[in-house]
Amino acid sequence: MFRFLTAGESHGKGLTVIVEGVPAGLALSEAYIERDLARRQKGYGRGGRMQIEKDHAEVLSGVRHGYTLGSPIALGIENKDFANWTEAMAVDPVPEGAKTRRVTRLRPGHADFPGVLKYSHHDVRDVLERASARETAARVAAGAVSRRLLEEFGLRVRSHVLSIGTVNAQVPETINWDQVEESPVRCADPEAARRMMEHIDAAREAGDSAGGIFEVIAFGVPVGLGSHVQWDRKLSGLLAQAMMSINAVKGVEIGSGFANARLAGSQVHDIIEPWGGDARPFHHVTNRAGGIEGGMSNGEPIVARMALKPISTLGKPLPSVDLVTGERVQAHYERSDVCQVPPACVVGEAMMALVLAQCFLEKFGGDHLEETRRNYLGYLDGLRQFLPEAAAIPSAERPPDDAV
Ligand SMILES: Cc1cc2nc3c(=O)[nH]c(=O)nc-3n(C[C@H](O)[C@H](O)[C@H](O)COP(=O)(O)O)c2cc1C
Repeated sequence: MFRFLTAGESHGKGLTVIVEGVPAGLALSEAYIERDLARRQKGYGRGGRMQIEKDHAEVLSGVRHGYTLGSPIALGIENKDFANWTEAMAVDPVPEGAKTRRVTRLRPGHADFPGVLKYSHHDVRDVLERASARETAARVAAGAVSRRLLEEFGLRVRSHVLSIGTVNAQVPETINWDQVEESPVRCADPEAARRMMEHIDAAREAGDSAGGIFEVIAFGVPVGLGSHVQWDRKLSGLLAQAMMSINAVKGVEIGSGFANARLAGSQVHDIIEPWGGDARPFHHVTNRAGGIEGGMSNGEPIVARMALKPISTLGKPLPSVDLVTGERVQAHYERSDVCQVPPACVVGEAMMALVLAQCFLEKFGGDHLEETRRNYLGYLDGLRQFLPEAAAIPSAERPPDDAV
């Protein structure tokens, strides 16, 4: 069973993540994981912390001589900022008068209010340290492990920003992914990117914040990941849960989910066509379903869009209440991002990769990568029974499908 679990507080010693169920024999390096960690740290609108920390995931177990062992992979990411927080985040009790950085003014929109009541804490820091999106660095590290596995089978996961605040991108028909990586806001439309940065600047100057919408796309996904037979095995459901678990994500659609709701069925459903010359016996003319039908991947790119609320820690804090005195106060402010949409894309990629890896391994299994590969190729060979006789194509050939 493929699964992962994270631990760690934002200003504690560091983050830990254990990824279990990765087959043996997969090439994996710290440098490979670091690439995604660096991508998460970029983005216009990020706060000061990203300048002082360069994340590195140390592989603590599960890899030997460059290859996975099949045992749990434990990764540790040091919080370099911990040096400034040794008293505030000390494991042992601290003396009276120590710099504990206690927070009592609740921030609207954060985990502060329900967290202190639920866990009976008297210091908001006991909640916010874990609720912080610092935890997503651990997910990105786990996501990189999943991405490495998926790559072996030709699956690729990409992301880009569709809007920030009121600024919408005009997405070109073919996205230049190198250009997206270069864009400070991960946007495929350079003109919109410029206006998005202006929007972020204006929010910063006003002591405010900005949210937006981003898209994650998986290419090369074989038909049949997930299942229609049980609610908790549906790929769409697993993806929605994974994406909704990202801090500040408040909406998820698969394909053109919300726009489809306003159209007639005949305008929505993707027409199925006979063999089009690739490895699939049938294919769809369009992809409004976002690559998933009946909770299963249908061989088209998987497209998920996420709505991200604006950051809740504001330079000009909103009215709130003090936990101790019960009086009206301005909410707490602590160093914060102004806009988190570009880095959230990278977290979204990680969650997509983790869900796909889970479903891929559920379908194809394998304790060693070569066993997984045999099972995968055997399945693709089995699909050839649906191909017309004329389709004398080599088995396991994947379509070139980087277009949405
Ligand atoms: C990549 C990323 C970075 C974030 N950075 C901040 C931040 O600097 N300040 C902040 O208040 N919220 C930030 N958030 C959002 C909060 O973590 C989130 O709003 C909070 O934990 C409350 O949870 P909820 O919005 O999911 O209900 C960030 C979210 C993401 C995905």
